[in-house]
Amino acid sequence: MPIGSHHSAAAGTDVWLTPPAILAALGGAESFDLDPCAPLDRPWDMARQHYTIADNGLARPWHGRVWLNPPYSNNVIGRWMGRMAEHAHGIALIFARTETQVFHECVWRAADALLFMERRLHFHDAAGTRAKANAGAPSVFCAYGADDADRLAASGIPGAFVPLRLRSLIFGFASVGSWVDEVLKVMQRAGAAVR
Ligand SMILES: C[S@@+](CC[C@H](N)C(=O)[O-])C[C@H]1O[C@@H](n2cnc3c(N)ncnc32)[C@H](O)[C@@H]1O
Repeated sequence: MPIGSHHSAAAGTDVWLTPPAILAALGGAESFDLDPCAPLDRPWDMARQHYTIADNGLARPWHGRVWLNPPYSNNVIGRWMGRMAEHAHGIALIFARTETQVFHECVWRAADALLFMERRLHFHDAAGTRAKANAGAPSVFCAYGADDADRLAASGIPGAFVPLRLRSLIFGFASVGSWVDEVLKVMQRAGAAVR
């Protein structure tokens, strides 16, 4: 089964916008350098720079911290997530289809941390109006890079935070002051060799 299909199949559109409160919790639009798949007419910014379908964000160079809430059509999600895994800097918001090949290749094997959302998201339509119905499937945030993993952990978005690359995260942090401290303490108590 493909990673996501609900939106496009049910509503005939790929334009399901991230709630502004979610972007704010992750640092705000100004903290993201690029949204490679933004709507043609956007009610608000998602990042400093946007590519739309007119630019074809898959054919353009990606740079900096990327915000990715990709088109959910069955045949393209893998290309977007493959690109994100390769770019390895930013946060993706997708459906938690954890068993799919795309999820295994581009998330389980590539992301640094996940946050499985409690309850279901209500996206916004192209005009910026909050959808009455929820997304119809569980959502997960996928962080690529140690900094984005930490931002995700500190976001306050309700859900379960799951670090995936513990070692690289812990050793990658010169100054710790977050959940990493807590993990280090637990590891030290358990007698792990933490250098
Ligand atoms: C699920 S919406 C997310 C919009 C926005 N990224 C956000 O987070 O609110 C996916 C968007 O991707 C756009 N899109 C579809 N194909 C695209 C392409 N090849 N290049 C850039 N954008 C594309 C659609 O127009 C749609 O606005």
